[in-house]
Amino acid sequence: MGFRVVLLGPPGCGKGTQAEKLNDDLGLIRLSTGDMLREAVRNGTELGKMAKTYMDSGGLVPDDVVIGLMKEKISTIKEGFVLDGFPRTVQQAEALDEFVDIQHVINFEVSDDELVKRLTSRRSCPDCNVVYHMIYKPPMKDGICDKCGATLYQRSDDTEETVRARLKVYRENTFPLIEYYDKKGILLNIDGEGSIMEIYDSIEEAL
Ligand code: AP5
Repeated sequence: MGFRVVLLGPPGCGKGTQAEKLNDDLGLIRLSTGDMLREAVRNGTELGKMAKTYMDSGGLVPDDVVIGLMKEKISTIKEGFVLDGFPRTVQQAEALDEFVDIQHVINFEVSDDELVKRLTSRRSCPDCNVVYHMIYKPPMKDGICDKCGATLYQRSDDTEETVRARLKVYRENTFPLIEYYDKKGILLNIDGEGSIMEIYDSIEEAL
């Protein structure tokens, strides 16, 4: 089994972007609860219908739902993996400890103003989940995913109002995980401001 890594940090800090690079370069399987939930919403499943109400307001989907989802996914994986967007509460972190040993937790530090700038100009691929930014990381062809050719879209929770609500939820529910993992001695703090490549280099060095 390869590395078992958690990416931690506020919305827009670059978890998805760096998870994609870790997948491309090190072959770590990327598991994103946000992507799984958005897929369920698109498919109109019972899970999707329930999750949508929380996601649209910037709130968190109930712990038992995401814990069940992640437990099932991780149980099928034999290789190394990177978790993007999970855990997000102390209860989720405690549940994760019961079913897998995490080796590294990488925490990205980025200012609120930069997060808002990143999220309000983000574009996402609905098929392969690659993310772009209209200024920082534009696709080669306007509105089209470089990787799979699908039409890019703007996430409904990427409006400034919902981003601010997500930041509040992050501070109340997810921020305590920094201390949780620091106490375990597996936390690596990384300056999340800088180019995508500079940040990736810091992650590789830290691993
Ligand atoms: P989720 O999809 O996990 O959203 P998030 O945590 O808010 O994170 P984002 O995907 O918005 O940002 P990111 O850190 O991945 O940044 P990215 O790389 O895209 O969750 C959505 C919702 O689902 C939640 O609100 C909740 O309702 C629900 N949910 C999910 N998980 C849950 C859980 N465990 N429990 C309960 N509910 C859950 O980058 C952002 C932008 O910046 C992009 O445009 C990118 O190109 C650009 N960028 C990245 N790095 C840089 C850089 N270094 N410089 C300049 N631009 C950059």
